[in-house]
Amino acid sequence: MIISLPMVILVPSILSANFANLEKDIRECEANGINMFHLDIMDGHFVPNISFGSVVVENIRRVTSAKLDSHLMIEYPEKYLDQFISAGSDIVTFHIETIKDEEILKKAKKANVMVGLAINPETDFLRVSYFLDYIDYILVMSVHPGFSGQKFISGSLNKIKNIKELILKNNANTKIEVDGGVNQSNAKAIIDAGADYLVAASAIFNGNISENIKKFYSII
Ligand code: DX5
Ligand code: ZN
Repeated sequence: MIISLPMVILVPSILSANFANLEKDIRECEANGINMFHLDIMDGHFVPNISFGSVVVENIRRVTSAKLDSHLMIEYPEKYLDQFISAGSDIVTFHIETIKDEEILKKAKKANVMVGLAINPETDFLRVSYFLDYIDYILVMSVHPGFSGQKFISGSLNKIKNIKELILKNNANTKIEVDGGVNQSNAKAIIDAGADYLVAASAIFNGNISENIKKFYSII
């Protein structure tokens, strides 16, 4: 009998990459087996930082066929959704704190992109249950969004476990992504709590990218 073990997927967040030569960093990730990137879109309102917009997503799309997940940390995502879809996002991740109802999730689905729902550290995980039918991913924020290089909030482990239980109870297919402060030391505990995808910026792009990814692979 062949037993297939669940595979956890490592997703580099380019926020800590070299923006003067993003293509080089993307290629190095790909050479190490990476096939999905996390793109942090920040508007300076929903989070206290500004990052980049759909033009950068469009340019990244031109140099890679990896899956692109646009994590929208922005107010009024309904105003910008079309831009991020046309830019070539495969997944669009909205913050539960910024959407009025499920309509925007349905709209994204209709446009043939996968849908993620991010949840901030202080937001009750039970709010997710209403949206389970409309989403492919739940992005559990394990730091307060806005910056890379912050410390993993340890209470997130329980939240991941609770969300995993919720998914199983509802017989849903939703995958759990964990974003913020993920590194080679806490990856095992995060996976044990129920993560299917690990998002990491500084633990991949600070220092030697290939070595950092290999260290993750020895754990996940
Ligand atoms: C935080 C972003 C994260 C961030 C992760 O607001 O959503 O994706 O880039 O950075 P690290 O992995 O350095 O915590
Ligand atoms: Zn993110």
